[in-house]
Amino acid sequence: MVFSTDFIVIDGVKIYIQDVNKYLAESYLLLYNSNKSNEYKLLHFSKYEGERQQYVNKLLEAYLCNYNNINEILGGIKEYITVDDILKLNLNRNDNFQITLKDFWYLKRDWSYLQEGEQQIKIIVESIKKELTNYSLTNSLFLGCGAGRLVVEFYDLFDKIYATDKSFSMLWHINKLLTSGTYEFYNPNHKNVFRIEDVARKYSAFINETNRIKIIEKIDFFVSDVLNLPFKDNSLDSIFSIYFTDVIALKLWFPKINSILKSKGLFIHFGPLDYFFSDEIEMLTAEEFRMFFEKNNYKTIVDKVVETPHLKDDSSISYQVYRNWLFIAEKQK
Ligand SMILES: C[S@@+](CC[C@H](N)C(=O)[O-])C[C@H]1O[C@@H](n2cnc3c(N)ncnc32)[C@H](O)[C@@H]1O
Repeated sequence: MVFSTDFIVIDGVKIYIQDVNKYLAESYLLLYNSNKSNEYKLLHFSKYEGERQQYVNKLLEAYLCNYNNINEILGGIKEYITVDDILKLNLNRNDNFQITLKDFWYLKRDWSYLQEGEQQIKIIVESIKKELTNYSLTNSLFLGCGAGRLVVEFYDLFDKIYATDKSFSMLWHINKLLTSGTYEFYNPNHKNVFRIEDVARKYSAFINETNRIKIIEKIDFFVSDVLNLPFKDNSLDSIFSIYFTDVIALKLWFPKINSILKSKGLFIHFGPLDYFFSDEIEMLTAEEFRMFFEKNNYKTIVDKVVETPHLKDDSSISYQVYRNWLFIAEKQK
């Protein structure tokens, strides 16, 4: 048994968080605020009368669908939220008033099987797997697993995979796809498009039977915070941080991952160092990041760059290219 604490299940989502009332209140508020922004857009566009009616109708269609989707998630947790829980939250506008949910970007890349998403996934998975051929690993933990497809692609390397994310809605979406089949959503493009139909294309996400079986057989998806992972010391052979390392300062999460990783275990980072927090002092360069691990008794196995398109959307004229840093380090005895 690798877990050090118990879990609770809310609307099909497995949660390992100690103060679950606070967590649910925070999640509720985040989703509520995100949907408020959809609501404002719906109100704004529905008042429009003019020559761009076709464009506006596309956006209305997209925002209405996403609004209903998010309302469904809110409906599943509403009964667990009290006014007191919401009022007790230490409301910091910068932290809590986030309105951009990344779920639909990742659902599209991961589970809509479009050429542009598959291309990114293939490069990531093949470049990491190539480096792991000489290692025999039994289990693994994926940090900030998002919508989960990258986790499933590593199925053949392990007997058991644990995959965690702090976002309630990411895990809710994975469960939704596992239990209800196809899920429809939009990623509207207000700009950077050639044609009206590219302003809002409807996407369908689904987990096919092969991947469903893989998940049921070996993969444990759950909510937890990287700062308080529910694992016992020395319980994991490998820890993956794909597009996650730059979400939180390394010094905050290193002690925990270091304690739960076994000796000879691997830490695998893939991604740019884009840093989604504001303290510049904690924005380590790749060189400093590598030195940090080496100083803490890790041996560097891989240190290279792998270029990928990032969350490319073929209906848009523009897309991002990442020169991802692939870094693998082995914990020494
Ligand atoms: C850039 S996304 C990457 C998703 C996924 N790794 C992928 O590449 O498809 C980063 C993820 O980290 C999650 N995250 C943010 N803070 C976290 C925390 N404290 N603990 C666990 N996950 C967190 C976010 O919810 C988000 O899904």
